[in-house]
Amino acid sequence: MIEISHLCKAFESNMVLDDLNLFIKRGETKVIIGRSGTGKSVLLKNVIGLIRPDYGSIKIHGKEVTNLSEREYNKIRMEMGMVFQGGALFDSMNVADNVAFILNEFMRLDEKTVRDRVKDALALVGLKGIESMMPSELSGGMKKRVSLARVLCMEPQIILYDEPTSEVDPITADAINNLIVEMHDKLKVTSIVVTHDMNAAFKIADSIAMLYRGKVIAEGKPDEIRGSRHPVVQQFIHGESVGPISEDEHLVFGHIK
Ligand SMILES: Nc1ncnc2c1ncn2[C@@H]1O[C@H](COP(=O)(O)OP(=O)(O)OP(=O)(O)O)[C@@H](O)[C@H]1O
Ligand SMILES: [Mg+2]
Repeated sequence: MIEISHLCKAFESNMVLDDLNLFIKRGETKVIIGRSGTGKSVLLKNVIGLIRPDYGSIKIHGKEVTNLSEREYNKIRMEMGMVFQGGALFDSMNVADNVAFILNEFMRLDEKTVRDRVKDALALVGLKGIESMMPSELSGGMKKRVSLARVLCMEPQIILYDEPTSEVDPITADAINNLIVEMHDKLKVTSIVVTHDMNAAFKIADSIAMLYRGKVIAEGKPDEIRGSRHPVVQQFIHGESVGPISEDEHLVFGHIK
């Protein structure tokens, strides 16, 4: 469904993605883990075409997308939704208009259908009846759920989630994880989920890939990742720090590269 090969992306001298390869099967939930700043958000933005790679290929349904024009990419984006890390809501629009934004922009639906879809999507994320509120009146977790509702109401085949459960309380996080599982089981949605939350990763993933220094260094079923003997993976899943924040990986794992 999504084939990413030899993907490279640098920002000036900062090589963020360095020959990254990743394949996501139809209907699969692939969880991406990795430390802050390793390029997880950059990877998702490459898939949705907000950032274009320097080198490499991304195929969606077998179609190369890296060289598409914005207009052609918009067709792909109609079946692909992304839940952004910070919500990415428009501050000047109320919740209903934010949730309906993509529907209004790209799909020709009548007003009532849009209103119903917005209502259902907000109910799904546990935010019934907040249509008229403004983003400035919402907490961080609410913004994230509104962003999730915006994606759900598009009924996409592919969903990219960037840290869907950060900034929400554990119970809401569990409800969002259940929703991701439900989208997978009932609607056969293909998903890439970036998360720091290892409990969530083990609960929702068909397969987990760990990003490190621009590459996928380990990939497998949740049990395989849990049992991985790779020191970087073990350190990450146990959340161990072994020194100053900027240097710890060099101190311990400098030999890996
Ligand atoms: N638009 C940009 N211009 C320049 N550098 C960028 C841009 N976007 C990301 N970067 C850099 O790319 C690197 C990876 O950033 P990214 O946001 O993908 O990290 P991340 O893995 O999502 O981290 P986190 O877990 O904290 O969200 C960082 O060094 C960041 O500074
Ligand atoms: Mg990120």
